[in-house]
Amino acid sequence: MTESDADLLAKEAKYLSPSARIGFFPLVVDHGNGCWFTDRSGRRFLDFHSMACVLNTGHNHPRVVGAIQKQADRLIHVNSAYMTHEGLVTLAARLAELCPGTVARRVAFGLSGSDANDGAMKLARAATGRSRIIAFRHSYHGNTYGALSMSAVSLSMRRGFGPEIPDVHHVTFPDVYRMDGDITDNCIAELEDLFATRIPGDEVAAVFIEPVQGDAGIVVPPARYLELLAELCRRHGILLVAEEVQTGIGRTGAWFACERFPVAPDIVVCGKALGSGMPVSAVIARAELMDAWSAPGHVFSTAANALCCAAANATLDIVEDEGLLENAVRMGQRLRAGLVALAAGHEVIGDVRGDGLMLGVDLVTDRATRERARTVAASVVAAAFDRGLYLTFLRGNVLRIAPPLTIGPDEVDLGLEILGRSLDDAVAGRVPEADIAAVVGW
Ligand SMILES: Cc1ncc(COP(=O)(O)O)c(C=O)c1O
Repeated sequence: MTESDADLLAKEAKYLSPSARIGFFPLVVDHGNGCWFTDRSGRRFLDFHSMACVLNTGHNHPRVVGAIQKQADRLIHVNSAYMTHEGLVTLAARLAELCPGTVARRVAFGLSGSDANDGAMKLARAATGRSRIIAFRHSYHGNTYGALSMSAVSLSMRRGFGPEIPDVHHVTFPDVYRMDGDITDNCIAELEDLFATRIPGDEVAAVFIEPVQGDAGIVVPPARYLELLAELCRRHGILLVAEEVQTGIGRTGAWFACERFPVAPDIVVCGKALGSGMPVSAVIARAELMDAWSAPGHVFSTAANALCCAAANATLDIVEDEGLLENAVRMGQRLRAGLVALAAGHEVIGDVRGDGLMLGVDLVTDRATRERARTVAASVVAAAFDRGLYLTFLRGNVLRIAPPLTIGPDEVDLGLEILGRSLDDAVAGRVPEADIAAVVGW
């Protein structure tokens, strides 16, 4: 007999660690297709979240499914610490070639964005002989020790877990909406002051930067900041690491968002969307940096297994063949225009920002003070859920708008229509208290 959703969720609450679920909705998903997923009762949801930017090719893209099935018939796994297979080599070569810049690159595989960040941190230290790492306030890099030590967005990722990895220093990320004055110069001055007074620049191994900060609330840095940051790194011999776990594989309308840097980063970290849901991540570094570590300095028994590589190669094919970068730009513009139109009629929208299909809608209680409107955000996502649109928020108040890159105009317009009505409901106080309270978020 099939257990009811309520029974299943109760059983899960009994057996699953509470660290592993962010409280949005009690969803038990049954199947997915394109921009839609369906729960066990048959309710369909338009997915404006893409499982946190993992499903850039949408749910169950037939070419991903086909590639996995074909591979599973032949070979599921070899331990890539001991031998290789064709899909792994093909994927490594493709990733090395896709990275911006003309420098030769090599790839180290892992299973998650978190372990890839730990890998990049290890590599940067080994290659430079320096220990210090610069990361940004409010960044999210993952939950393994290196990654959580660089993250600075939630106490739940740190409380009780210390000591973190030493020598990680956090600096201010330039936030055009929430900071006043000359933010580029001020943020660069902060780094220069850090190097002049507390941390010798020549002891810093790497700066880890999300080219667009994701979980911080979709924060796009000014181009001039990236230019000056790259120059500062060059001057001090610091490696520039583009942390592209969320932005990579087309999310912002480019293969990698670091294409916006004037120089190619030394290391690119990639995960999430690479495998269209299969666990695969990659540290893609300038070839000679990789001479600094040797086996088993960064191996995992199940990394780059045959199924994951088949899914990843299919993902890259789909992005290329189906023009998903162009679609992310085009649909991103359509979505953004619709969101800007919604802002004209809703005072609660303080800012609409982002790139491609990585958009954020910053909800505020007052446009002058920019105070975060947490309850409104919870009300909007609850109302949208009720109407069949799945989305979440970041930083307590920034609606995350991130549908699959396969989305078409009709789905964009439907999502915008539901969002508009959900904003109306939220502002008019029509969302039931219990629904709002159930949205915990993070
Ligand atoms: C920018 C960024 N880096 C790293 C991670 C961690 O990736 P994973 O959850 O695959 O370990 C995330 C996940 O949300 C992320 O957004």
